Amino acid sequence: MKTIETVLKCGDCLEILQEYPDNFFDLIITSPPYADCREKTYGGIDPDVYVEWFLPRSEQFLRTLKPSGTFILNIKERVVNGERHTYVLELILALKKQGWLWTEEFIWHKKNCHPGKWPNRFRDAWERCLQFNKSKKFKMFQEAVMVPMGDWAKTRLKNLGQNDIIRFNSRVGSGFGKNISNWLGRDKAYPSNVLHLATETSNKNHSATFPRALPEWFIKLFTEEGDWVLDPFVGCGTTSEAAFGLNRNSVGIDIIPEYIEMAQDKVKPKDAVFF
Ligand SMILES: C[S@@+](CC[C@H](N)C(=O)[O-])C[C@H]1O[C@@H](n2cnc3c(N)ncnc32)[C@H](O)[C@@H]1O
Repeated sequence: MKTIETVLKCGDCLEILQEYPDNFFDLIITSPPYADCREKTYGGIDPDVYVEWFLPRSEQFLRTLKPSGTFILNIKERVVNGERHTYVLELILALKKQGWLWTEEFIWHKKNCHPGKWPNRFRDAWERCLQFNKSKKFKMFQEAVMVPMGDWAKTRLKNLGQNDIIRFNSRVGSGFGKNISNWLGRDKAYPSNVLHLATETSNKNHSATFPRALPEWFIKLFTEEGDWVLDPFVGCGTTSEAAFGLNRNSVGIDIIPEYIEMAQDKVKPKDAVFF
């Protein structure tokens, strides 16, 4: 049995990634520092220079990701002066110019988003998980994230109309048809691109963790056991923990030493081999 490596490094990912060869990682999944949001903890980046700050780092992501690999960027634009800032949209365009393909956008719906009242908007209950690739031929294991068919099997599939039984060509002329009767008798279906996951409140020491189920889902979808996962802004190690639990090697980088210590505690030394 091959040993799983969990590498945790302290520093700016821009510098640390120079140590890694081209085409090394199978998946990069990360939630970067948000624009200006957390001045009191790990500092923020001014929304107006966010793209400029991000691009040299994503250049390293592009270099170190395998051509068959995927980059998942969990991000959300903040409100500045009463309107949504456009840095995420500008970043998408800039990443495309840098050579990335913007393949897909997943939505993380925060199921347990806390209630609140704002004068001109409702509570924000979702974040983007943008999928970028280097090539159209990337590794993907859709069967690994199938979901139970659930009530749909009992309701919709019980009352099939004529259109459901014959192959039914898309009304929008996309050329893709669906034959819903194909799903009869199956107990699993493919998920949608909306992930309904609760935020985790157990981590009192880091203010912006994502739930472990988030990196887990993408690791299952885009990698196999023994593959290499990178989180260049690893915080307190949620991605490292998820990768280790799924028998994937990982590299986690964070600029704050205390977060790297927390990450090391999470992936317990008795289980992990640190490099
Ligand atoms: C949104 S948090 C990530 C939280 C992480 N997903 C988790 O679950 O703990 C962003 C992290 O990026 C780190 N960071 C900021 N600038 C960095 C840089 N240049 N290189 C590496 N890490 C950086 C911050 O210290 C912070 O922990």
